Amino acid sequence: MLQDVDMSRVTLIDHPLVQHKLAIMRSIETGTKQFRELVRELALFEGYEATRDFPLEDVAVTTPICDTVCKQLSGRKVAIIPILRAGLGMVDGLLELVPSARVGHLGMYRDEVTHEPHEYYAKVPADIDHRICLVVDPMLATGGSSIDAIKYLRAQGVQDIRLLVLVAAPEGIKAVLNSDAQVRVFTCAIDEGLNEAAYIVPGLGDAGDRIFGTK
Ligand code: PRP
Ligand code: URA
Repeated sequence: MLQDVDMSRVTLIDHPLVQHKLAIMRSIETGTKQFRELVRELALFEGYEATRDFPLEDVAVTTPICDTVCKQLSGRKVAIIPILRAGLGMVDGLLELVPSARVGHLGMYRDEVTHEPHEYYAKVPADIDHRICLVVDPMLATGGSSIDAIKYLRAQGVQDIRLLVLVAAPEGIKAVLNSDAQVRVFTCAIDEGLNEAAYIVPGLGDAGDRIFGTK
């Protein structure tokens, strides 16, 4: 499935703490409160990897001992773009890492029969085309929702788009990479595939329902 795609654009975060937390999240025994906490924590770990190449510049600092030169972030600003609903669960973890980031919202839901995404809301920062966009959604299944989100941002002139998901199906990774020549994908797991209802197997069920306790 993934043999003929450019996996250099995919980062699998296989840190032991990430894998441990993901195992707890997947369990049917894990309740809403703990699930929500784990989504936030994993987003923070993932954000750490997704921002690894952010450029630095020199800054003069006076310590209690002497003057010195340190590093600070330079370059373009950041926008966090959650795909509603489930992407909202990842926002706070990323804001802890990048407190100055702006947040834009893209509302998408999958039709339960066709599995096609439908956009119902979009509100992003006015200067979005000058920002690095971290698109966040815990689940990358068929890829339809993420592809539409990426297309929307490209149409707004965004250059640097990074898709941060927690669990991905190979089908979704392939579809996203084939739909956009530049986007980079960060994920904590690449699962076996999709079932007949287009849910990720083994996955973790419906991420939105588990975050918000709606089932
Ligand atoms: C889920 C999930 C993704 C999408 C993934 O959202 O949070 O947005 O499905 O599936 P895809 O890759 O096949 O598009 P859902 O549509 O269930 O909406 P919700 O977050 O409001 O529950
Ligand atoms: N959306 C989810 O929340 N889970 C899946 O497995 C697929 C789509």
